[in-house]
Amino acid sequence: MTKIYVPLDSSAVAMGADEVAAKIEAITGIAPVRNGSRGMAWLEPLVEVETPKGRVAYGPVTLDDVAGLIRDGMMEGRAHALCHGLTEELPFLARQERLTFARCGITNPLSMDEYASHGGLDGIQKAIGMSAEAICDEVMTSGLRGRGGAAFPAGIKWNTVRGADADQKYIVCNADEGDSGTFADRMIMEGDPLLLIEGMAIAGLGTGATKGYIYLRSEYPVAKRVLTAAIDRAYWKGLLGNDVLGSGKAFHLEVFMGAGAYICGEETSLLESLEGKRGQVRAKPPLPALEGLMAKPTLVHNVISLCAVPTILAKGGEFYRDHGMGRSTGTMPFQIAGNVACGGLVEKAFGVTLGELVNGFGGGTRSGRPIKAAQVGGPLGAYIPLDKFDMPMDYETFAKIGAGVGHGGIVVFDDTADMAEQAKYAFDFCAHESCGKCTPCRIGAVRGSEEMAKLIAGGDATTHLTLVEDLCEVMEDGSLCAMGGMTPVPVKSALDYFPEDFLKGDKG
Ligand SMILES: Cc1cc2nc3c(=O)[nH]c(=O)nc-3n(C[C@H](O)[C@H](O)[C@H](O)COP(=O)(O)O)c2cc1C
Ligand code: SF4
Repeated sequence: MTKIYVPLDSSAVAMGADEVAAKIEAITGIAPVRNGSRGMAWLEPLVEVETPKGRVAYGPVTLDDVAGLIRDGMMEGRAHALCHGLTEELPFLARQERLTFARCGITNPLSMDEYASHGGLDGIQKAIGMSAEAICDEVMTSGLRGRGGAAFPAGIKWNTVRGADADQKYIVCNADEGDSGTFADRMIMEGDPLLLIEGMAIAGLGTGATKGYIYLRSEYPVAKRVLTAAIDRAYWKGLLGNDVLGSGKAFHLEVFMGAGAYICGEETSLLESLEGKRGQVRAKPPLPALEGLMAKPTLVHNVISLCAVPTILAKGGEFYRDHGMGRSTGTMPFQIAGNVACGGLVEKAFGVTLGELVNGFGGGTRSGRPIKAAQVGGPLGAYIPLDKFDMPMDYETFAKIGAGVGHGGIVVFDDTADMAEQAKYAFDFCAHESCGKCTPCRIGAVRGSEEMAKLIAGGDATTHLTLVEDLCEVMEDGSLCAMGGMTPVPVKSALDYFPEDFLKGDKG
């Protein structure tokens, strides 16, 4: 029987994938496999049909297209205006280096057999035969740095938790994914949830933790459903439980729905929230690796960091380290969003340029107008002007210009964007999302927004910008966490690269 695939991914569902799948089944009697997304958002819902040559892609398929497509031979992979040929040969996919997303969109997310037959479980099988120390060494060798934003070396954190003496340790997966324009965590949790479960179980073996939590963004109901089902299967197949794949070691896992606040993505706020309290930042030290959840040693990692681990164990830390450049090792799932023609997920080794991602993969702006800038790394990331698009995407190069790669989100703006408005938006965002614990952030963001509003309304630029710069300095130096500490990053980059946008209303 012909195999047909319609993604269950939220972005596809938002574009009508559930209805498309139901109609295909109603007409053909074949229930489509609900796979993960291939990460080509502009083609969703992307319907794929298995043929002797490989999978043929059709998209974007609307409900109204289904009957005509079937009539015209979609089930045999025939040509059609919506046909893009073999999925694997689409340049957007063929030019990627998919390690973490290697299975996403290919396998049935909930099939342990398909997972295993596509290289899944290789990592944990190796880990089971290794000591905790050797597992941590492998992570250290890989050079993996946290993909949640701070880019802290993972191996150091693993060794800290491993070395801590405690009756209980935890692995906490940060799946709060609050950054604007980011969706890699969601995509992998919906498309290959067993990978995250495997990564967390390996982290348990490496650190001695026996219990894990996935702190999941409250706006991700599809991910919740898929993850919960995948966890049930993992228990059934022995990947989770009191004796993980016969290792004699226990690892238990559950999903915890987040509180719906950006600050709950900050790891100490997240731990407060997970303990049932209001999500407010804790002062560090103590580090969560030593005193985290319930004051026990806790390894907190982003979804993508944990999802890199099975590959590192299966293929070796050196294999992973050989991708990327300098101290930015491995691959990064970059997420291209905003005003872009072909938005989606591109997994490439560090070192790819911003221009290659935005123009080469993204195809320039959706509006067709010239690009003005891209904000890289979420709402606390810098606006990078077009003349810096040849910069390689790696932590060190970005740090040199006061920017960051963050979680790999790239939001594109065309020449109609007003950077003074964007700078005001950075303060507004911080004012809205601040946990309120420290004054520079709680008050500074509100004052910053007020000053920007006065400037935009035509006030004296020198007066207002002097105050804005002062506020930025106070927020950078005095904030307890990166929420207040990094709000100046978008503000200052907008001001540095687009000063003309801040002067045009000046009547002073
Ligand atoms: C305001 C704020 C929001 C954050 N939001 C997230 C988030 O949504 N997801 C995430 O993984 N890390 C987020 N982080 C980073 C975490 O505090 C922490 O560094 C990360 O979970 C550690 O995992 P990693 O080492 O795998 O990056 C945020 C940090 C700050 C300051
Ligand atoms: S910087 Fe902002 S978010 Fe962070 S602790 Fe201070 S008030 Fe809370």
